[in-house]
Amino acid sequence: MTQDELKQAVAVAAIQYVVDGEIIGVGTGSTANFFIDELAKIKHRIKGTVASSEATAARLRGHGIDVFDLNDVTAIAVYIDGADEITHSGAMIKGGGAALTREKIVASVSAKFVCIADGSKLVDVMGKFPLPVEVLPMARAAVMRKLAALGGQPKLRLKAGSDQAFITDNGGEIIDVAGLSITDPVALEQDLNQVPGVVAVGLFALRGADVCLLGTSDGVKTLT
Ligand code: A5P
Repeated sequence: MTQDELKQAVAVAAIQYVVDGEIIGVGTGSTANFFIDELAKIKHRIKGTVASSEATAARLRGHGIDVFDLNDVTAIAVYIDGADEITHSGAMIKGGGAALTREKIVASVSAKFVCIADGSKLVDVMGKFPLPVEVLPMARAAVMRKLAALGGQPKLRLKAGSDQAFITDNGGEIIDVAGLSITDPVALEQDLNQVPGVVAVGLFALRGADVCLLGTSDGVKTLT
């Protein structure tokens, strides 16, 4: 099976976690896009969604699915999103698509987090995928020095085909940190959360996934 077929398979499997009559949190990225297309087929069953990025909101609205502002919502039944790396215990690196801050916010207010990913995302130790960190632009250099002192190789994310910084939906910039071997993701997330100028770190360990649906050539595997 191709990687897209594996993503499609987990997107289909994730529909069983959609709670009828409720608000669904929707992630960002290519796997989440497959999920949005599946969700569109049962949109009459849900109250609406909260989106983790402008791109996701646009795709949801394109399917005629209601998108609520998080400030107008008191509960989200389930959050469904992809990951760049995930461990057997449900800790993740996210933010390859630059939406980590809103993803973390929406996940934090959701009763359940269902991660959907192709099997290549499952790792024993995270860090091969560079860790995205969103920063306020004025703190970029200071945060990069701090990340280098922690043993990483920080690099400012640039707009594709340009030498200008990539700007997130929140007006922030992204630093991608290569060369980390994340043996204690909870401790690293806590440490990085304390660095002034960091808006959000793409480590989801304090609040990891409750369920992970992994697409493999043997079918969709469920990790809990
Ligand atoms: C978006 O910011 C990310 O957190 C994505 O969830 C993650 O990068 C996975 O993306 P794909 O589904 O495209 O691999």
